[in-house]
Amino acid sequence: MVSEIRLFTETAFFEKAQSYQSVLSLRGVLVNIEVIEKLNARFLRLNPEIALCVDESGLSLCANGMKMQPDWKAEIPRLKRASLKSEMIARACNLSEKPQLLDATAGLGHDSLLLASLGAEVTLVERHPILFTLLEDSKAQAENDPFLAKVVARIHLVFSDSGDYLQQQIDQNNHVDVIYLDPMFPQRDQNQQAVKKQAQVKKQMQLLHLLLPEDGEMDLGDHLLVLAQDIAKRVVVKRPRLAVFLNDQQPNHQWQGDACRFDAYFNV
Ligand SMILES: C[S@@+](CC[C@H](N)C(=O)[O-])C[C@H]1O[C@@H](n2cnc3c(N)ncnc32)[C@H](O)[C@@H]1O
Repeated sequence: MVSEIRLFTETAFFEKAQSYQSVLSLRGVLVNIEVIEKLNARFLRLNPEIALCVDESGLSLCANGMKMQPDWKAEIPRLKRASLKSEMIARACNLSEKPQLLDATAGLGHDSLLLASLGAEVTLVERHPILFTLLEDSKAQAENDPFLAKVVARIHLVFSDSGDYLQQQIDQNNHVDVIYLDPMFPQRDQNQQAVKKQAQVKKQMQLLHLLLPEDGEMDLGDHLLVLAQDIAKRVVVKRPRLAVFLNDQQPNHQWQGDACRFDAYFNV
């Protein structure tokens, strides 16, 4: 995992950059701030290595000429169109029952944002310090948006490894209705449909993969299924459409989409 990273910013955002630097240092990441004249597309193209940047839209990750942040505001049109009936993820997570939900692999938080906008209380757990800080920033920005504020009031963020977090819940005899898992999957094994995803999603996934360990060293999250089944009535796993089962475990039920599927494990 990245433990030292450059952060580009302009003079106007230097103080903001310093506050991200302090937060990230507490989370074990050494941030070297570089104040530059103009943080624009040309600069990003000329500086293709992975770095952070801070500008008027807050904290972003940049690499290969691209800039990425969870950008929950961009999700608003999708959230407005979504319904319990139309969304496969909502059926898989049994949202009509208004469950307490734990998303143990938060990432950019997009799936949980959708679940929260459809009424669920969601706790998101993310272990990567930079991704977690990006999530926190998105949540803070969403609190100032009239539509998103009501949605993110149902979102709670936890910075932790989910293996540890789930073990803690087991030790404390805490139970939850649904645990949602979407662990990383080696990029080359994603099926063709996934490659056809809209450009924005592809760009975000590319940057996410740069930040996380290489394929082969990647923790594929098999152990999370076993822990999750100990405390949840239902565990839902998102997989690329043709991917192997998590932990090689046959689910009780599946929902198949074009690009991905949801495998559900019921605790009876
Ligand atoms: C494919 S992404 C999840 C994408 C997410 N569903 C979304 O909608 O944006 C997987 C994320 O899970 C996180 N992750 C994987 N294993 C984890 C663990 N044991 N504890 C916490 N986070 C974990 C990774 O750091 C990564 O950010």
